[in-house]
Amino acid sequence: MIAPATSLACAAQALATAEPRAKAAAALDAAVRLQAAPALDPARLAGLADRPARPARPILAPPGKVPRRRLGSPRGRIALLHALAHIEFNAIDLAFDMAARFACDIAEAGLDARAFVADWAQVGADEARHFLMLADRLEALGAAYGDLPAHDRLWEAALATRDDALARLAVAPMALEARGLDVTPGLIARLEAAGDARSAALLRVIYEDEIGHVAAGVRWFRRLCARRGLRPAAAFRKLIAERLAGGLKPPFNTEGRSAADLTADFYAETGRIMA
Ligand SMILES: [Fe+2]
Ligand SMILES: [Fe+2]
Repeated sequence: MIAPATSLACAAQALATAEPRAKAAAALDAAVRLQAAPALDPARLAGLADRPARPARPILAPPGKVPRRRLGSPRGRIALLHALAHIEFNAIDLAFDMAARFACDIAEAGLDARAFVADWAQVGADEARHFLMLADRLEALGAAYGDLPAHDRLWEAALATRDDALARLAVAPMALEARGLDVTPGLIARLEAAGDARSAALLRVIYEDEIGHVAAGVRWFRRLCARRGLRPAAAFRKLIAERLAGGLKPPFNTEGRSAADLTADFYAETGRIMA
């Protein structure tokens, strides 16, 4: 039997673990503990680091220096799967950082911090499973996570939103993870066209889970907006303009976004802000 956690220390433990498979294991363990926890003690996390622990590899490079992904060749598919594994690895940390960093703010806003932490612990467990699936697939193709350079854009986005739960919700789940919903169906089709049905099947699993992650972001964003007296779509557009370099990138997968309750008023015609 797993002892119930009385604080968010196990989320911090996942963040502080560097080795990739060990981080994924710590994330899965933390998710079970947090969902069984009768109470939270967020105050113990005053020392939460701005950057989680990371392995020596992959080395981080500017986005233009990361290998291109022509999917007709095994090397191209490895480059794509490596880039996706890196996204999932970052996503583990993003989920537990969300839980640990903002649980106090959620409680102070009069919302259910226990439910907030449980939601992001579930997301973190999904991301750990996604990472492990992709790492295993890379190994089946004769490669490994860490073999190629990777970019740091996801954690740069985390740093740009470390001061405000609403900004983090807007940028991480509602912009970056929603972008995953936009591009994944096309990647699945390209992998199938290249004859890699196994990788395509993994991306189908990930796509379905990611709808739930975007939905969690939208749910907490709407709740926090209600507490702050803000109109959600207008608040989202303002935060994206202020906090996300480059803004939102169409084309949008309206079907996938709608399944996550991310309605078109949040992102349509982003060039014209009607707040
Ligand atoms: Fe994921
Ligand atoms: Fe996700």
